[in-house]
Amino acid sequence: MVNDTTPSANGNSNGSTKQKPQYDPEFTDSVISATGPNASPRMRSVMASLIRHVHDFARENDITIDEWMQAVQMINWAGQMSNERRNESQLLCDVIGLESLVDEITNKLLVGAGADYELTKSAILGPFFRHDTPSTHNDASIIKNMPSDGEIAYMHGIIRDAVTGKPIENVIVDIWQCSTNGLYEQQDPAQTEFNLRGKFTTDKNGYYGLYCLRPVPYPVPDDGPAGKLLQLLDRHPFRPAHIHIIAGNNEYTPLTTQIFDKKSKYLIDDSVFAVKDDLLVDFKPTKANSKASLELVYDIRLARKS
Ligand code: BEZ
Ligand code: FE
Repeated sequence: MVNDTTPSANGNSNGSTKQKPQYDPEFTDSVISATGPNASPRMRSVMASLIRHVHDFARENDITIDEWMQAVQMINWAGQMSNERRNESQLLCDVIGLESLVDEITNKLLVGAGADYELTKSAILGPFFRHDTPSTHNDASIIKNMPSDGEIAYMHGIIRDAVTGKPIENVIVDIWQCSTNGLYEQQDPAQTEFNLRGKFTTDKNGYYGLYCLRPVPYPVPDDGPAGKLLQLLDRHPFRPAHIHIIAGNNEYTPLTTQIFDKKSKYLIDDSVFAVKDDLLVDFKPTKANSKASLELVYDIRLARKS
C-alpha cells in the first residue's frame, strides 16, 4: 500500500506529506465507450456501472499492481478449487455479503413496491444445493445415517398463497441440511448419497411434513480463498444452525430460504449474513410423537407467478 514515504505514482517522494497522485480523468470513459453497438442494453449499462465502480475503487484506494495481483490470484484459486461438489467463487461472494444482497434485491423486485401482502422471507441458496434430490412421500424421514448425537425433529407446515391465504396443493418442497458433524453429504464420504435431503409435495390441504435432524451450527469451508479472506478480516467461518428450503411449482414462484434455530449460536454474526428475524424458528420438545423428540411447525407463503 502506498504510504507517505514510498514514491508516488509520479515518482516524487520527498518523505513529507504529499498530495494524492492525479490519475488520467478520461481513462474510465474511454474504457466504457469501447463497448460495441451490438452489446445488449442491460450488458451496456451494467458493465458501464461496474467499470466505473471498479475504477473508482482502484483510484480511491491507490491499488498497486502487487495488491491487484493478489486479488487475481485469489480469484484464480477460487476457480481452481471449484467443482460440482464445491463452489468457492460463490463462497467468496457469500462472505462479503453479496449473495445475501442480490437475494434481497431479487425478492424485493418480485414483490414490487407498495404490495400489501407478506411473502415468506427469502435467504441465500448457498453452495450445497443439489438439483437431483429424489422426491419422497410426506412424513418420510430424510435421515439415512443417524448420527449418535442427533436429535430427530418432525417438521411440518402448510404452504399458502400469500395474497389469498389459501392452502396450495402440489407445491414441491425441497429440503436439505448438514449432519451433526457440520458436513453436507456431498462433502463427506462417510454419508450415504442424498442423506439429509428430500423433495416433498403438498397435499390438497397444502400440508408437507418430514423427519429431519435438529440442525447444528457449522463452519463454511475455510481451507480456500474464502477462508483466507475471513482470516485476513479477523472473522470466524461459522453459520448458525439452519435448514434449507426451496418451495414452489409451475404456478408459484419458487422461494429459496433457510430457517434458523432461534436458540443457535452465531445468529448475530452469521459468516454469510443470511439471518432474518422472520426466519427464526422454535424446535419444541414433544412427547406426542414416537418418532421424534422435537416438533417444528413452519408455514410458508408464496407468490403466484405473474
Ligand atoms: C450453506 O448454508 O450451506 C452455506 C451458505 C453460504 C456459504 C456456505 C454454506
Ligand atoms: Fe447450509
